[in-house]
Amino acid sequence: MAITLQTKTGEFKLDSDDASETLLFRGLSAGLSLPYECATGTCGTCRARVMSGDVEMAWPEAPGASRLKRDKGDILLCQSHAKGECVLRVPSDVHSGDRAAAPHRINGRLEGLKKLTSDVVDFEVALEQPVAFAAGQFMVVTAPGLTGGRAYSMVNYAPETDRIRFVVKRKPGGGFSNWLFADQAEGAGISLFGPLGTATLRPGEDGDLVCITGGSGIAGIMSILDHATKAGHFSSNKGWLYFGVRTLADGFYLKELAGLVEKSGGALQVILALSDEAAPAASHPDYPSIQLHEGFVHEVAARGVKDFCGDLNERTIGFVAGPPPMVDGAIRVLLSEAKLPPSRIRYDKFS
Ligand SMILES: Cc1cc2nc3c(=O)[nH]c(=O)nc-3n(C[C@H](O)[C@H](O)[C@H](O)COP(=O)(O)OP(=O)(O)OC[C@H]3O[C@@H](n4cnc5c(N)ncnc54)[C@H](O)[C@@H]3O)c2cc1C
Ligand code: FES
Repeated sequence: MAITLQTKTGEFKLDSDDASETLLFRGLSAGLSLPYECATGTCGTCRARVMSGDVEMAWPEAPGASRLKRDKGDILLCQSHAKGECVLRVPSDVHSGDRAAAPHRINGRLEGLKKLTSDVVDFEVALEQPVAFAAGQFMVVTAPGLTGGRAYSMVNYAPETDRIRFVVKRKPGGGFSNWLFADQAEGAGISLFGPLGTATLRPGEDGDLVCITGGSGIAGIMSILDHATKAGHFSSNKGWLYFGVRTLADGFYLKELAGLVEKSGGALQVILALSDEAAPAASHPDYPSIQLHEGFVHEVAARGVKDFCGDLNERTIGFVAGPPPMVDGAIRVLLSEAKLPPSRIRYDKFS
């Protein structure tokens, strides 16, 4: 069942027969650099056009499909399955890479589920085989009885590991997040596809780090800061983390963050921004190395960045993750206050 992809950089054939995987995952696991961002139907980046053959979109109402020209045969690769031979046009540069290092499907068991705040849990997944990933990457997770995949960024970092950690914020009415809160998820078998994503700190990369995030957006940034600290990044670079939550009681991973500040010798600063209450003091009552400020995280970051932007080195990298409006606001801060070029800003929109 041949699948032909016509791209701006030539034609590629997919040889795997696994029709249960989406076209995006089949292409990525074959080592092709197909375009994607969310990999879960919300952003529209993976648009392609069916030139011939039968392709089915599993979730036609996906938010990312709203701007598709369906009458012309447009589909989302991350939501579509081939029903037989087909030819697809992908309007992007695509390259063929190392298949052995490509994202792939892995099974695992959910363990150690614990509540961090009233609406945030974290858990580990014990994987059937070890996986290598870059700090800041994510996996698409599917759970029993739930339609479609959900993207979650790894919290931990290790060059290769058979245990990965995720943190999830409860979304009202949300399928996966409410399953986690329903007390039946511990020990469940789940399936993952990855690692995915390019909002990463690359091995050996140098530069100051300015991170702006809110809620469970801290996930991939924990991995980045953990990796940076272990790699000695802060012996020659500085770092700032702006972490937005509603109230002091909504803060989590604060002990871990205070530990990172200490290991960095003070080169990393952590600022907790409280959007729904006044900061009771200049620093956290239990973790004095964590500064407290009142306001939405991108506003607090805008005020802070003004003070230190003159000290940033020219290799500075901005990392942003969280809900789309927060990400858009934070990117504006990095562009206009920190004066970072767009090429040095990496982000994940948790749409
Ligand atoms: C790159 C990336 C990284 C993310 N990392 C994190 C993280 O570390 N922590 C965190 O809390 N959140 C993260 N998110 C958000 C997360 O993926 C979920 O959107 C969120 O947890 C809500 O999931 P839910 O199942 O509770 O809500 P739901 O509203 O049930 O589902 C939300 C998402 O699931 C998918 N979906 C829903 N229904 C279908 C269907 N019928 N078919 C196919 N797909 C469907 C869609 O992508 C939808 O947007 C991330 C998102 C992205 C894009
Ligand atoms: S990558 Fe397919 S819609 Fe985002």
